[in-house]
Formats: sequence, structure tokens, C-alpha cells
Amino acid sequence: MQCDKNPQKIKNMFNEISGYYDKMNNLISLGSHYIIKFLSIKALDIKPNSMILDACCGTGDFSKIISKFYPSAKIIGLDFSAQMIKLAKQKNPKNVFIQGDCTNLPFGENEFDYITMGFGLRNINDRTKALYEIHRVLKNGGKFLHLDFGNHNKISRIFNIIVPFIVKISGKNSEHYKYLLASKDSFPPPDDLIKEFESRGFKLLKRQDYLFGTISAQIMYK
Ligand SMILES: C[S@@+](CC[C@H](N)C(=O)[O-])C[C@H]1O[C@@H](n2cnc3c(N)ncnc32)[C@H](O)[C@@H]1O
Repeated sequence: MQCDKNPQKIKNMFNEISGYYDKMNNLISLGSHYIIKFLSIKALDIKPNSMILDACCGTGDFSKIISKFYPSAKIIGLDFSAQMIKLAKQKNPKNVFIQGDCTNLPFGENEFDYITMGFGLRNINDRTKALYEIHRVLKNGGKFLHLDFGNHNKISRIFNIIVPFIVKISGKNSEHYKYLLASKDSFPPPDDLIKEFESRGFKLLKRQDYLFGTISAQIMYK
């Protein structure tokens, strides 16, 4: 399947699926996505009173985990889907969420100690622009956590069989989940992503693989 990442189409898609996004994530990953998000955040080693941006925040899982385990952190969640932001606010009434585009971040230079981005970059057409923006608003010495699908291995291929089945029995829009699989399969594997991040000025601090590398986190610093 062609992977059309036209930003307006992507925004419409996430607005449309927002109501069942969490439920489907739980079903498809058997709840493991939340544990993986927690483990990748733990690997960041967040210091007290830090300024954190959760880019492509979706329904606010990262904000929820960070504010629970690092209560002194000041977190801003950002996403361009109004519906996702609405749900993030409902799930995290005390946290700050804003509607915005990762390719044009509404912040000054060097504002954040940490930037997290889970399952977001894969959906962005202009990755160069997004990485430029993340690098710009991150402080010198600040850390960027990127989490997404990793190597295209056997588990990843099993996923390609299970997802259409789950989507079919739950009666959801199968086009959106075809896009999920196509974007997964065409996304650069972690080794290539790390090179791409390095070419944009980041340095690798550590990489953590989950589910035998099917999901991978890269912690980069500026
Ligand atoms: C797969 S969801 C991930 C949500 C959340 N981070 C998580 O891990 O559950 C991807 C999110 O990225 C957002 N997104 C995609 N492109 C974006 C952009 N250019 N700027 C801001 N948000 C974007 C979508 O609206 C969607 O909520």
C-alpha cells in the first residue's frame, strides 16, 4: 500500500480514529505499549523540575506516565489533532496540552530539557523539518527520546497478520490500519534512523529494544 503522509490527511485520520485509538492500542499490543512507554521514559533518567515536551502526544500517555513518576516535571503535550488533544486533556486534567505542528514548533530555541516522541515521526511527511525543530527547541545537553516500531523482523510480520484480524472483528475502518502497517514497513529501521538523527546534529546516548527489537527506543542528546 502507498503511504500517503499528506499532513491534512494524517490529521483527519487521527481525528477520526481518536475515539477508539487507546482501545485499539491496548487490543493490538495486548497492553504492552503502555509498559514499553513506561520503560523507555525510565531510560531517560529524568531530573527533577525539568521542562519536557511530548511531541505528537496523541491521547497523552507519555504525559500521564511522566507526571505520575516525575511529579516535579513541567510537561507540555503537543499534537496537531484537535480530537487527540481533547482526549489527552480529559485523561490528564492537570497537564498542559496544545494544538501545534511538529514541523513548526511554537517555542523558542533551547527551551526543553527533554523531548519525547512516541509513534509520531513515522507519520510526518517532512522528517527533516521535524528533526530540525526538535533540535532547535531542545537545550544543549538535552535528551530526545524517540520510540516507534523497530526492526522488520518475524514478530513485526506476525503483527501484519494479527492487526487486520483484530480490526475486522472490531469493525473499525480498515484503511487506517492498512496505513499503520504500510507506514511501519516503510519506516527506517533503528540503525538507519540513528544515522539520520546524527546527520541532524543529535548524538546517540543509548538504544533500547523491546519485543526482540520489534519496538525500539533511541535516546539522543544535543
Ligand atoms: C500514532 S499517534 C501516537 C500518539 C502517542 N504519542 C502515543 O504514543 O500513543 C501519532 C500522533 O502524531 C500526531 N501527529 C502526526 N503528525 C504530526 C505533526 N506534524 N505535528 C503534530 N502532531 C502530529 C497525530 O495527530 C497523532 O496523534
